[in-house]
Amino acid sequence: MKKKMVSAILCASMVAGLVVVPGVAVKAADDKKVIGVTMPTKDLQRWNQDGDNMKKELEAAGYEVDLQYASNSEETQVSQVENQIANGCDLLVIASINGSSLGGPLAQAKEAGIPVIAYDRLLMNSDGVSYYATFDNYKVGQKQGEYIVEALDLENQDGPFNIELFTGDPGDNNCTFFFGGAMDVLQPYIDSGKLVVKSGQTEFEQVATPGWDTAKAQDRMDTIIAGNYADGTNIDAVLCSNDSTALGVTNALAASYTGEYPIITGQDCDTPNVKNIAADKQAMSVFKDTRALASQVVKMVDSIMKGEEVEVNDTESYDNGEIVVPSYNCELTVVTKDNYKEMLIDSGYYTEDQIQ
Ligand code: BGC
Repeated sequence: MKKKMVSAILCASMVAGLVVVPGVAVKAADDKKVIGVTMPTKDLQRWNQDGDNMKKELEAAGYEVDLQYASNSEETQVSQVENQIANGCDLLVIASINGSSLGGPLAQAKEAGIPVIAYDRLLMNSDGVSYYATFDNYKVGQKQGEYIVEALDLENQDGPFNIELFTGDPGDNNCTFFFGGAMDVLQPYIDSGKLVVKSGQTEFEQVATPGWDTAKAQDRMDTIIAGNYADGTNIDAVLCSNDSTALGVTNALAASYTGEYPIITGQDCDTPNVKNIAADKQAMSVFKDTRALASQVVKMVDSIMKGEEVEVNDTESYDNGEIVVPSYNCELTVVTKDNYKEMLIDSGYYTEDQIQ
């Protein structure tokens, strides 16, 4: 993978792109630093975008990229990272499946002096993590909670309103922030009785969705509807931590729900969900521009590789159990029917065709 040395002695005028020292082995001018990038899965739209953006930007900055996807298998991701280390890559960028499952490779990376950037999801319980780049994950949840509070006008209405709760994979450290941020906003209304969770499922473990899987969210919502809303009782809101879970919820509603359509939150602005926003089937999605995250991570990579100071804007929030990882939080925006064209099409994130 890495072109270390070209062991021929050549004349500079004969071979373009090679740095020639007469009588000495020739080092290829394109002896690029190799960045190992691992992404969790190709199944969800966002990770394909993240991977593509990272590869394009790193290559444009002059790096060679080894991009791997792990089909949501923790074992596969462990061996992918181990291989990247064994192949002598210069830096690792890891979007983990389970933030706690990469302790082995992270120890190896540390031993080999390879810097590691945790991408979007924090890598846990290891001091082998150099930096973390993400969006403000707590704020994502807060925005979702606040949207529900405003849409139901909970400050002024007595309610009670019915709400159900969905978050993502319990092994994804982001969920603690997404769900925590939303519940810090919603819990007081649940405590006062303005919001009622008829299923009774309010604990993180009860509302988690393994693998962030749409079908699993749909199954759980089917069961909730059958058990609590089959008589046409309204569900006023469904908190969904992201778009893949929101999609499962909308699928279940379409199949068996007869009450008034609820307010549904999401995150990522995946194309099926943006279509649902345009069709009033999902109220909002938190837009995290993956181009901005990729650019920030490429800046980090470049600074690390050049031995320069790395830009961070959060040195307090992300304690991985071993160390507080210096982090960069990118900006996020709430997207609704009112602004999705401006935010997603005018900004060039999607073409109009993609969300028609
Ligand atoms: C990401 C979300 C994404 C979810 C499922 C989270 O870690 O931050 O953007 O929706 O994983 O892939």
